[in-house]
Amino acid sequence: MAVFTDISKSYAGHPPTQVLTGFNLTVYPGATVSIVGPSGSGKSTALNIIGLLDRPTSGVASVMGVSTEEASPRTIDRLRADHLGFVFQDSHVLPVRTCSDNVELALWASRTPRHDRLQLVEDAIEKVGLSHRLHQPARVLSGGERQRLAIARAIVRGPDIILADEPTGNLDPDNSQRIIDMLNAERDRGVAVVIITHDHRLAEQCDRSYELRHGSLQQRSTHA
Ligand SMILES: Nc1ncnc2c1ncn2[C@@H]1O[C@H](COP(=O)(O)OP(=O)(O)OP(=O)(O)O)[C@@H](O)[C@H]1O
Ligand SMILES: [Mg+2]
Repeated sequence: MAVFTDISKSYAGHPPTQVLTGFNLTVYPGATVSIVGPSGSGKSTALNIIGLLDRPTSGVASVMGVSTEEASPRTIDRLRADHLGFVFQDSHVLPVRTCSDNVELALWASRTPRHDRLQLVEDAIEKVGLSHRLHQPARVLSGGERQRLAIARAIVRGPDIILADEPTGNLDPDNSQRIIDMLNAERDRGVAVVIITHDHRLAEQCDRSYELRHGSLQQRSTHA
């Protein structure tokens, strides 16, 4: 669970850019949330704050019961590594490394013994239907397969919250649906999923759907 209360975020400059203001969001386990909004409205800015990659200018961010205001960078790194999983639009997989290596890299900060690590990697890759590609370099994968590999990497540590920025951005409808199904499967296991998207079909399949407008979230619909 994560709670964001009265968050504001501005970027320094002349003049400064005020991106978020009065931004409130609660992320519940076992539920999907979508955030839509026009380009430049602050979706990635919000996701960076939710994902503890950036700090708000003001407001309170609390992730898994830890308020990040006074947390040390080390504590924040640990929170992120232990509880969060990320999926980005362009997958960010390393093309020359094998699929297995790409997923194992997500475990670098964990103290899991190597043998157990490989089992976790195989399980995650199996879940996304890429077992036959385990030892092949990621560059041979199609766009949809790369995105599935990115999901395997996000889920390999068993995160409590998955954050996805345009996870279906470059995919055709069939591949988009597969990604949605995989994120829903994680939701059904109790994971909280936050999805940023331009894809209204995807947004509408989420349990809660918000639009980011003038720096804060407006509710679009509720299915849960
Ligand atoms: N590091 C930064 N320094 C200064 N301004 C920034 C920085 N990052 C983002 N911005 C500005 O903040 C605003 C919101 O950017 P953000 O990337 O969050 O938008 P977005 O909704 O994700 O857009 P898109 O749909 O195009 O990805 C934009 O005006 C952008 O120029
Ligand atoms: Mg963005």
